[in-house]
Amino acid sequence: MRVKTCAAAAAVLCAFALPATAGVDNDAALKMMKADGCTKCHAVDKAKKGPAYQKVAAKYKGKADAEAKLIEFVTKSPKVKLDDGSEEDHKAVSTKDAAQVKNLVQWVLAQ
Ligand code: HEC
Repeated sequence: MRVKTCAAAAAVLCAFALPATAGVDNDAALKMMKADGCTKCHAVDKAKKGPAYQKVAAKYKGKADAEAKLIEFVTKSPKVKLDDGSEEDHKAVSTKDAAQVKNLVQWVLAQ
């Protein structure tokens, strides 16, 4: 299905979208992050208030517990430090659907 969708889209978009999406539902992850306001603080390739997802993926690369750690992070609202030195509770994902959370985390790790 992914391949078919891709063939219909502009080639340049496909080249951009494919490497990060193996086995992960890209659209679902992006939709979820938009709905939850994650994109206010995170982008894939540049730091905003929070780190770029590429940086997060690099940090966890090769770590066996990466997925479990990040699932905990995005569901438990730990305290995080912002650039201006202030602290706040990190936003948790609004879904309680474990499969969706897992997909989101796998998407982050694939950046
Ligand atoms: C108010 C800004 C803000 C929002 C909104 C936000 N984040 Fe973050 N996020 C941060 C900051 C700051 C960090 C860095 C925390 C640290 O390194 O201690 C971070 C870190 C992370 C990390 C990396 C954790 C790690 O262990 O390195 C992930 C993954 C993440 N955020 C996902 C999300 C998701 C998913 C959402 C939406 C549900 C979200 N963030 C919403 C600011 C934000």
